[in-house]
Amino acid sequence: MNGDTYDIPARVREGSTSDIRSIDDWRRAYLDCQADPDGFWLDVTRDLVEWRAAPTVGLEGDYRHIKGGPFTWFGDGQLNVTETCLDQHLEERGDKTAILWEGDEPGDVRRLTYRDLHAEVCRAANALQAMGLHRGERVIIYMGMVPEAAVAMLACARLGAVHSVVFGGFSAEALRDRVRDCGAEFVITQDEGMRGGRTIPLKATTDEALEGEHGVKKVLVLKRTGGDVGWTEGRDVWWHEAVEGASPDCPAEVVAADHPLFILYTSGSTGRPKGLVHTCGGYLTYTAYTHRTVFDLREDDVYACVADVGWITGHSYIVYGPLANGATTFMFESTPTYPDAGRYWDMVQRHGFTIFYTAPTAIRALAAQGDDFVTKYDRSSLRVLGTVGEPINPDAWIWYHQVVGEGRCTIVDTWWQTETGGIAISPIAPATAPKPGSATRPMPGIEPVLMDPKTDRPIRGPGQGLLCIAQPWPGQARTVFGDHDRYVATYFSNFEGLYFTGDGCRRDSDGYYWITGRVDDVINVSGHRMGTAEFEAALLHDEAVGEAAVVGFPHDLKGQGVWAYVVLQAGERWSDDLEQRLHKVVRSVIGAHARVDVLQPVPGLPKTRSGKVMRRILRKVAEGHADQLGDTSTLADPAVVDAIVEGAKGRHG
Ligand code: WTA
Repeated sequence: MNGDTYDIPARVREGSTSDIRSIDDWRRAYLDCQADPDGFWLDVTRDLVEWRAAPTVGLEGDYRHIKGGPFTWFGDGQLNVTETCLDQHLEERGDKTAILWEGDEPGDVRRLTYRDLHAEVCRAANALQAMGLHRGERVIIYMGMVPEAAVAMLACARLGAVHSVVFGGFSAEALRDRVRDCGAEFVITQDEGMRGGRTIPLKATTDEALEGEHGVKKVLVLKRTGGDVGWTEGRDVWWHEAVEGASPDCPAEVVAADHPLFILYTSGSTGRPKGLVHTCGGYLTYTAYTHRTVFDLREDDVYACVADVGWITGHSYIVYGPLANGATTFMFESTPTYPDAGRYWDMVQRHGFTIFYTAPTAIRALAAQGDDFVTKYDRSSLRVLGTVGEPINPDAWIWYHQVVGEGRCTIVDTWWQTETGGIAISPIAPATAPKPGSATRPMPGIEPVLMDPKTDRPIRGPGQGLLCIAQPWPGQARTVFGDHDRYVATYFSNFEGLYFTGDGCRRDSDGYYWITGRVDDVINVSGHRMGTAEFEAALLHDEAVGEAAVVGFPHDLKGQGVWAYVVLQAGERWSDDLEQRLHKVVRSVIGAHARVDVLQPVPGLPKTRSGKVMRRILRKVAEGHADQLGDTSTLADPAVVDAIVEGAKGRHG
């Protein structure tokens, strides 16, 4: 980037902070931030965040010294994030809808104003405090998409406690792992969830997760469906009994900027999911800034992100970013196809959404159902359409733009990760000329570097390589809970002084970025991020399985599918029953959202003579490129490859 336009300081002042209205504004903000990141972010945070003690320092620490401990932002600042998300709005926006909720059944709607939400959060915080929750302690939230899930998150934040939301699709075993890993003493759940006309036994799964050893003292249970649930006296507490009678005033616990706000578990290449830690001041600053900038937020917007609060998108762009900005944020309990594929557009018509944010997988699934489900509803309120979670293929992009947005709306393809906290590479709605399939340009503060895997050198100009980021920004996760070494090893050991994202990426001659997908052993199925190692561990739970290797492969609707190669124990035989059993074990170890698409029995795995599984070969076969395996003569048993290729025939859908 050349600096020739950089002489007008585009500083953020009095609400003008994030006004990026043209590509020149973006360039100016980008260069401004590059030249003086501390000054840039201090201005942004003082503008967007309510501090008790405003910070005077920006970044302390860097990637090169990350082994010694996390870097920090706004080190001398003090705040409570709920004062930005709630209290500051009471005067001017007290009667504005903060949360607009639609339940599983169309038209089942609730609205909480900022005043309602503030009171409800205070009540829940008081109830949790009376149950013994203190600052710094961990709370697992295992709920569906009900307003109380957001209330629970904010109530923890009010007390300076640390929430860890576990997506409601996860199994008892996955929930137990997370409860133990973060040492949670409290769980907040509900009797049952509702989704697509079906109930989800959240309380029963919680009970199962809490069999055996754990440190959980109390379980707070919201009544959603009124279904029968088991009850452990002394441990379980009904939400309505504890919260409804509590006081609607609760003083906010003031914490340091880098106090943890939440832990969110995410899948990586190896081992169990990692609990990434996001902190109060930096995370809130970054999500508030990116939310208003990327989506071109306006005061009367009805903003709808249809993600789940169990994932980072729900944290950053349903709860924290929108509420910090005083927006009306939508929460959706159901699915895009319940009762039919017109559900989203029916809601656009009824609620008048102006900004709509979803995942490419939903766009592809809905496009496959035909345009009539879209065109029969009035979508004239829509202005900005966002996507996130996986690369969007140009066909889906064009359908979203032409059919859903009537060629009139701006599409923002937002690239980011649980680790980045907020949107990192994306168009800025009013400023960036889009290209279908490209996440376009970096946000201020994000310095992408493409590393050439062959030379370990940065690529200058156009080219394709491994996506890294050169400098810390305020929204970046600081560590892995309880295991800082793992954080360093995962993200900072590949390239000295760079954060490695795990994604491949191409930069074109206009300086636009095109994410090509994960280059590690993470698979992205329908926008759900999962580790191949987790699938392998799950399959090994079955006694019949001797070895398993799992890879992703391209899938028309889901983005990626899951292909499992299974070696049976001696004496075991493949059968339909066994196949069903293996599907079940994956579901029970990981969760309902985890499904193997292809289970292929194989006589052995391709290994080098030193015993390393050649995953590259397995990937090629699953991708249908058995003709591109390269040299396999160095394998311990080259004949295994022939059997794998033969066995894969006819399995490619
Ligand atoms: C992928 C979700 C292409 C990417 C917010 C990343 C994307 C992983 C995009 C993070 C996009 C996310 N284009 N790929 N716009 N957005 N990804 O942690 O592979 O669940 O590394 O965060 O999703 O998934 P996560």
